[in-house]
Amino acid sequence: MPAKKKIIILGAEGMLGKAACGLFSTHYDVFPFDMDDFDIRDDKELRSRISDIKPRLTLNCAAYTNVDGCEKNRDLAFEVNGFAPGVIASVCREFSVYFIHFGTDYIFSGEKSSEYTEEDEPEPLSVYGRSKLEGEKRVLSAGGNSLIARTSWLYGPFGKNFIASIIEAAKEKGEISVVNDQVGRPTFTYDLLKCVEWLADKKVTGVIHACNSGRCSWFDFASAAIRFKGIAANVRAITSEKLNRPAKRPKNSVLSITKLASMGYRIRPWEDALKEYIKKYL
Ligand SMILES: NC(=O)c1ccc[n+]([C@@H]2O[C@H](COP(=O)([O-])OP(=O)(O)OC[C@H]3O[C@@H](n4cnc5c(N)ncnc54)[C@H](OP(=O)(O)O)[C@@H]3O)[C@@H](O)[C@H]2O)c1
Repeated sequence: MPAKKKIIILGAEGMLGKAACGLFSTHYDVFPFDMDDFDIRDDKELRSRISDIKPRLTLNCAAYTNVDGCEKNRDLAFEVNGFAPGVIASVCREFSVYFIHFGTDYIFSGEKSSEYTEEDEPEPLSVYGRSKLEGEKRVLSAGGNSLIARTSWLYGPFGKNFIASIIEAAKEKGEISVVNDQVGRPTFTYDLLKCVEWLADKKVTGVIHACNSGRCSWFDFASAAIRFKGIAANVRAITSEKLNRPAKRPKNSVLSITKLASMGYRIRPWEDALKEYIKKYL
């Protein structure tokens, strides 16, 4: 039997990284790393792992993802989300390794009245968004074979996520309040990863938006989860102003998936993915 292709997965203990380790293990020999193995800011360690393993693909799922925390820890946010991805891309280029990095809808201001395309000018509202945008720029300017898969509102098994927390709170309290003035595309980690594996097979480079189809507000998303789970709880709609979180979020962060569709890849609607997630994992 021919040897499997090798993949390095960074951030392998996170929500997306853990799912990636499982999904990619079918066709790849997986080399998973997280904080306990080495910090992605450690250039020497990174270089040594990539040069030793010489994978076909490196997938960077590591990031500082605490959006409100980033407001207080600006330096950490820029080091992990902004500078480290550029170094990973450079090392991958040096060893001719294809590199996939994840971007976020939070690089946009949310002022646009229609969906954001890959060509739209980013204008982040938060430190998290600015740090992630810096990461995108550095990955692209490193000049290797790199793909930035921008995604949004991720949920799935492994780690904390919005849906698991909502279901828990609804069961406990019988009533929850959820913002109704931010719209986006909730995305199931496994749907994103299947899409990314397809893109990896084609060695697509540049920037691509990858999310489940359809759109909704956090209120719609929570209401659907409670309905699908069959919980008798009241979901109250509130405004972002009322929640008053440290980091501003875009009101509209719907990422257009037209480019992906034009390449021949269709992702199912978010409701179908949410039903599957709830049935299998909650
Ligand atoms: N979650 C979303 O809604 C969402 C939306 C759009 C885009 N994205 C992007 O998708 C990617 C994956 O997100 P996720 O939700 O799976 O994140 P996550 O669950 O927070 O996982 C990130 C992983 O990276 C690790 N990590 C953090 N700093 C590190 C460092 N300096 N060195 C090595 N490992 C480090 C974390 O370890 P610790 O837990 O120990 O810190 C964690 O295991 C990120 O690029 C994120 O920006 C996420």
